[in-house]
Amino acid sequence: MSTTHEAGWAHAPGALRGPAWLSPPEDPNALVPLLWSSTAHKRDGDLVVGGVAVADLVAEHNTPAYVLDEDDFRSRARAFRDGFADYDVYYAGKAFLCTAVAGWVAEEGLHLDVCSNGELTVALRAGVDPARIGYHGNNKTHPELRRAVDAGVGRIVLDSFAEVDRLAQITAELGTRQGVMVRVTAGVEAHTHEYIATAHEDQKFGFSITSGDAYEAVRRVHETPGLDLLGLHSHIGSQIFDSSGFEIAAKRVLRLHARVGSELGVTMPEMDLGGGFGIAYTTQDDPSEPAQLAREMTTIVEQECRGLGIEPPRLSIEPGRAIVGPSMCTVYTVGTVKPVALDGGAVRTYVSVDGGMSDNIRTALYDADYSCTLAGRVSAAPPVLARVVGKHCEAGDIVVRDEFLPGDVAPGDLLAVPGTGAYCRSMASNYNHALRPPVIAVRDGAARILLRRETEDDLLATDVGAS
Ligand code: LLP
Repeated sequence: MSTTHEAGWAHAPGALRGPAWLSPPEDPNALVPLLWSSTAHKRDGDLVVGGVAVADLVAEHNTPAYVLDEDDFRSRARAFRDGFADYDVYYAGKAFLCTAVAGWVAEEGLHLDVCSNGELTVALRAGVDPARIGYHGNNKTHPELRRAVDAGVGRIVLDSFAEVDRLAQITAELGTRQGVMVRVTAGVEAHTHEYIATAHEDQKFGFSITSGDAYEAVRRVHETPGLDLLGLHSHIGSQIFDSSGFEIAAKRVLRLHARVGSELGVTMPEMDLGGGFGIAYTTQDDPSEPAQLAREMTTIVEQECRGLGIEPPRLSIEPGRAIVGPSMCTVYTVGTVKPVALDGGAVRTYVSVDGGMSDNIRTALYDADYSCTLAGRVSAAPPVLARVVGKHCEAGDIVVRDEFLPGDVAPGDLLAVPGTGAYCRSMASNYNHALRPPVIAVRDGAARILLRRETEDDLLATDVGAS
């Protein structure tokens, strides 16, 4: 492709412009700070995170690898704890969890939300106080509920009438009591991808407020001797920037809360407003600080409670992505670079890396946008519009759909993708028998492996015919 034109390379015939929101950077070597963890910077082209040059990490641990900035994670956790000082903040472990991270969460004074026995196992192994754990899920089995009760989790969030019955049976058998919340759907469709908007009615989670199921669930829980009704729970979706969704949901949930007070004579002490706070994946996104979110949410709740003539319950939230998302980046090595001619004479530069949809399924699954940068050298080459793709046998195996990279990007270059802390390692797979990459924590110039790279022995460990 010709990159010379008097008005600049982007005006050359056939030059690809990319999506409207993406403009060619003044300096394709520079980081956009909003997208990176707080300690990330470039030093002579080398990406440095937590005081460690990524190129040095790669020399020792290879690629692909997730690099987790411990200080950044901890300071985001603290920003939620302090910004939401009057709330209980539950870190949503589904975004990313391992024993070390569960420990950081506890040390920084947060509670923990788990949604499976696997996550519960990690939390307990990390020594998290069970009383500070909330247990979620839309299809918890009798043994799973039994395990959570036995472990002494502080709250179980009930999602169906069947679960109310199952848990009632368990507490009766054990002669014990269990704190529970009732998950409700407020009929709000948050402005996010359809699959991650969860509070509208036509989906699997929670009890509908509109249909009356939510009130009926609360009534049943109240009448069940072994269940302590802590309050209502509402989570409206994920990667949300617009507080109007929270506002509508909070008002509907508070009205139900007030109705339970007046009709059943029960003052529920708590209410959970869920997670879902958005982060910046690209320059299109403009997230708010936790303290600002807290002010907005508190104002909404206080105003509504005044109108209803009730005392506000103790509130809790469950951020996952907004804590761990920006704290991690993924580092890859470039393999093949292939210019592909498109209709109209334009050329797209396909940059293949040594990972892909097995370590980041979000681009393929949700049409998520990411960005990336060269992590191991400076380049003076004019930028080209690139598409970063993985090495899996699927055309949809895209990591970064559109990014301007220096035109001399070449095999052996290191490429780093920011914002991969949430739902990348936790949704990683062994597709094509890929080995899931390690998670390496960096802090104050030192690196520590939290999750090691999988080995071929790990792959074969469950293959009974292999031994
Ligand atoms: N609480 C509940 C009840 C949830 O279902 C979720 C996320 C959260 C809290 C945390 O949401 P966050 O603050 O992390 O947005 N795999 C998708 C996201 C699925 C979210 C599922 N529930 C993605 O990669 O975007």
